[in-house]
Amino acid sequence: MIQRRTFVRLLGGGVVAAAGAGSLAVWSLSPAFPAAAVEAWRGPGSELDVRKRAIAYAVTAPNPHNRQPWMLDLRAPDKITLYCDLERLLPETDPFGRQILIGHGAFLELLVMALAEQNVHAEVALWPEGELPRTLARWSRLPIAHLSLTPGAQRDPLFAQVLARHTPKTRFDTAHAVMRQTLQQVVSAGAAAGVSADGTVDMARVQPLRALCLDAARVELLTPATVMESLRLMRVGPEEILRHRDGISINGRAARVFSALGQFDRSHPPTVDSPAFKQALRTFDDYSNTAMGFVWLGTARNGRIDQIQVGRAYVRQQLQATALGLGVHPMSQALQEFPEMAMHYAAAHRALLDVAAPRGADDPTLQMMCRIGYPLAAAPATPRRPLAQFVTGGTSA
Ligand SMILES: Cc1cc2nc3c(=O)[nH]c(=O)nc-3n(C[C@H](O)[C@H](O)[C@H](O)COP(=O)(O)O)c2cc1C
Repeated sequence: MIQRRTFVRLLGGGVVAAAGAGSLAVWSLSPAFPAAAVEAWRGPGSELDVRKRAIAYAVTAPNPHNRQPWMLDLRAPDKITLYCDLERLLPETDPFGRQILIGHGAFLELLVMALAEQNVHAEVALWPEGELPRTLARWSRLPIAHLSLTPGAQRDPLFAQVLARHTPKTRFDTAHAVMRQTLQQVVSAGAAAGVSADGTVDMARVQPLRALCLDAARVELLTPATVMESLRLMRVGPEEILRHRDGISINGRAARVFSALGQFDRSHPPTVDSPAFKQALRTFDDYSNTAMGFVWLGTARNGRIDQIQVGRAYVRQQLQATALGLGVHPMSQALQEFPEMAMHYAAAHRALLDVAAPRGADDPTLQMMCRIGYPLAAAPATPRRPLAQFVTGGTSA
């Protein structure tokens, strides 16, 4: 209950004057993210360095929980080396680093596109010193890719969508079906070596997938370790969002007010009867039950190259969807490899690839599963950290 002395003018984006709500007092209650946190979406601006200009686009890549785990070494001329930032892993929901590496694939694809836009060709050598091991605890600073740059490249028409692409974490329009032809355009944008892309808009197939997504989300929310991983990465309100510029940014009025009043507890897993749990489940219900179709990506094996390739394919699908006004939203819970999810992990593999749950790197693996549909609200641009935090070396602007 909000205390009686507290005066909160919630309507119309007004300013909050709340006793005990210090962190809210100086901010307007606009749900828009602070401009500095989303400046990446204005592009590289006056930056002159070709490689940094390309990186400025690449950091807008989709990536799990918006951890932005990319590190780039520009010290050698005409080369870029990509590493994973080992401080930015998700050990609970992504215990083998599979999703983190999909995010690296998406980054790499945008990087290559943004270099080509400047007439620079990138020769990409993946895992030049060997692949990262399966166990996260044994990860070290191994290069994911070396890019060797030479003049002359073909532009990619999907580049035009890079700064317009956002992940639509919103309800889809259930009165607006996705046509098979549109589905096909998105599916085929995910063509990449070693990656199989497929999808459905057949409601007889969509319905059980909706249920699977919601059931899997419930497991993630009820597993203390996985829900705490998400809670720790929540950035609520302008101050936290600007301080981190990563993670799960929440700037809605209600969450900010409850957080400022100490009534949004992020230090413990929410209990099933708590408002926080009910709200989170309602959100997943909205996502799942407004899915108007699904697209998915699989690989014959689950090696580190496969995971990078999936990321490259996935971002191309999202860019193609952006061009079509369609939303592509990952629903990754059932694909997560923590023990409590095993039943849904197996069900997703059976439903979409008709295989048993993979046991190791040599088995066919479902890598991405996304709902599709027409978003009822525009998806906001999400925060990105300043460019300088990703890069070592190179000339400055
Ligand atoms: C491998 C992977 C898995 C993801 N899984 C989810 C998910 O389960 N739920 C979700 O809402 N977003 C998911 N996302 C989307 C990210 O949260 C999103 O890309 C990130 O927050 C940045 O936002 P943006 O894509 O709008 O720039 C996933 C993205 C990737 C690359």
